[in-house]
Amino acid sequence: MTRPRILVLGTGGTIAGAAGSATGGGYRAGGLALSAMLDAAAGLGLEAELVGEPIAQIGSQDMGWDQWSALHAACLAACGDPAISGIIITHGTDTAEETALLLDLTLPAGKPVVLVGAMRPADAVGSDGLRNLANGVAVASDPQGGGRGVMVVMGDAVFAAVDVRKAATAHIDAFRGFPRGPIARVTPSQITWFGPPHRADAPASYAWPQSLPRVAILTAGAGMDAKPVEALLGIGCKGIVLAGMGQGNAPGCVLDALAAAAKAGIAVVRSSRVDEGMVERNVEVDDDARGFVAARALGPAKARILLQVLLANGISDPAGVQAAFDNL
Ligand code: SIN
Repeated sequence: MTRPRILVLGTGGTIAGAAGSATGGGYRAGGLALSAMLDAAAGLGLEAELVGEPIAQIGSQDMGWDQWSALHAACLAACGDPAISGIIITHGTDTAEETALLLDLTLPAGKPVVLVGAMRPADAVGSDGLRNLANGVAVASDPQGGGRGVMVVMGDAVFAAVDVRKAATAHIDAFRGFPRGPIARVTPSQITWFGPPHRADAPASYAWPQSLPRVAILTAGAGMDAKPVEALLGIGCKGIVLAGMGQGNAPGCVLDALAAAAKAGIAVVRSSRVDEGMVERNVEVDDDARGFVAARALGPAKARILLQVLLANGISDPAGVQAAFDNL
């Protein structure tokens, strides 16, 4: 039987991190080459052929347009290559949810695309990187893995890009899904999917943009004034995502300034700074009157990515932006 061929795109992160000590505290994310990780994976006896393609060797705090463009192009080429069964992206955990959502919005859903990372560097005792990679291989090779959009595999769980977020900074069980939990449980030898693929053979939802417009996240805090809104408009933001209190709220002066911005054509999306924040329209804030959009279950970081993609695709009116958040 021929083994499935999996393209592994390396970007760095802690999964490619080296501490130089199995028990030390400090380490450098992205220090190890992808080839070193694939050499280690070769000893695991995986039922797949892994083909490596380095994209970057960085901590994911530096992930941006250049790396995203290269990832998107490589994924698109692999989606059209009948020899490739699935795609794995090794990625830092800090911004995995942003890259996952951006690719989820802009890639066809036919083949599995899986981000994997690690919370412990590759040379740390109890490192989780190779396990997450082996689990990613199981998902990317599974005939049931396609048609589910981009996924993140961490801690023996599979999350959909729309749901996933990093919810802890220290332990290996650091990722959570909201509003849905994991869509599958996985080990290197077994996958239990909790439902059927929902996007089988679906085309990309949005075109890959020429660039991403400037959209900022404004975190609300008690006692703040409206000056940060003025500052963001002053640097040319085309959109503002409010990381609001509770139901996406903010002091009255801030909401007034954001409403004025919305009236002037700036897209304003209300999300919540609360970890499991669900922001619905017109609950505490009159979105209809103020021209705002409610982010629903998307947290600030992912709401920013969706808004950037929408604006880049010419969708900027509050009704159109709201429909995209509603239909995610
Ligand atoms: C990073 O995101 O690159 C550093 C943290 C990690 O990978 O866990």
